Amino acid sequence: MLLSVDNLHAHYGKSHILHGVSFTMAEADIVALLGRNGSGRSTTLKAMMGWLEPTAGSVRLKDKELAGRSAHAVARQGLGYVPEERLVFPNLTVEENLHMGMLSGVDGAPRWSVDDMYAYFPRLRERRNQKAGTMSGGEQQMLTICRSLLGNPLVLLVDEPTEGLAPKIVDVVTDVVRDIHRRGVGVLLVEQKMSMALKVAQRVLVMGHGAIQFDGSPQDIQARGDIRREWLEVA
Ligand SMILES: Nc1ncnc2c1ncn2[C@@H]1O[C@H](COP(=O)(O)OP(=O)(O)O)[C@@H](O)[C@H]1O
Ligand SMILES: [Mg+2]
Repeated sequence: MLLSVDNLHAHYGKSHILHGVSFTMAEADIVALLGRNGSGRSTTLKAMMGWLEPTAGSVRLKDKELAGRSAHAVARQGLGYVPEERLVFPNLTVEENLHMGMLSGVDGAPRWSVDDMYAYFPRLRERRNQKAGTMSGGEQQMLTICRSLLGNPLVLLVDEPTEGLAPKIVDVVTDVVRDIHRRGVGVLLVEQKMSMALKVAQRVLVMGHGAIQFDGSPQDIQARGDIRREWLEVA
């Protein structure tokens, strides 16, 4: 088993947000995590990454228990994270930001170079000596994805990577997600655009009430109007 999340609970103060999230990723697939706004998708990623300490449950990556460990330790064990907030060091250049993301990576993880990143996003190469804080939102999003990849993850958690991007850039990011997967990285993708998610994912999880309500293939979810109405579509 590559990744296994079992009965994960998390709170913000007294608010109980995750009520036992469980799912597995047997091999390096693309798994889409869908749900309405506020259903707990971002909180799931944060609790997995150690950005928020889970109050119960387990997160295992290749038999290593990660729940309750620091964000730094989790990243070093091979879980990469592209948070919804674009996280760049505004006063460092693009290239310096890329170097900040580098980790040696665990055994068996695909390896990435700065040149790989420039091949994905030529715009970043053009702007390699520019301060990251002066770049557009879309460029900062590309930079955030690249920084996480340079940590050489086994599995990458990506939170709404196409949010606010122009359609052309959405296509580029979609291709990059596919290529990352082709090169052997598992991807857990939170994505608002269901059409994009269904296009790239091998599996779909649907969250509601702080737990996984559906786990199946893109074809299964297409066939389940009841699930989509109850947990996905805005009434
Ligand atoms: N920092 C926070 N403090 C308190 N409540 C939060 C915080 N972040 C999110 N929440 C609440 O947790 C619930 C789940 O949010 P979130 O995981 O961000 O949902 P999603 O990513 O699916 O839209 C929501 O009710 C939201 O209001
Ligand atoms: Mg979110």
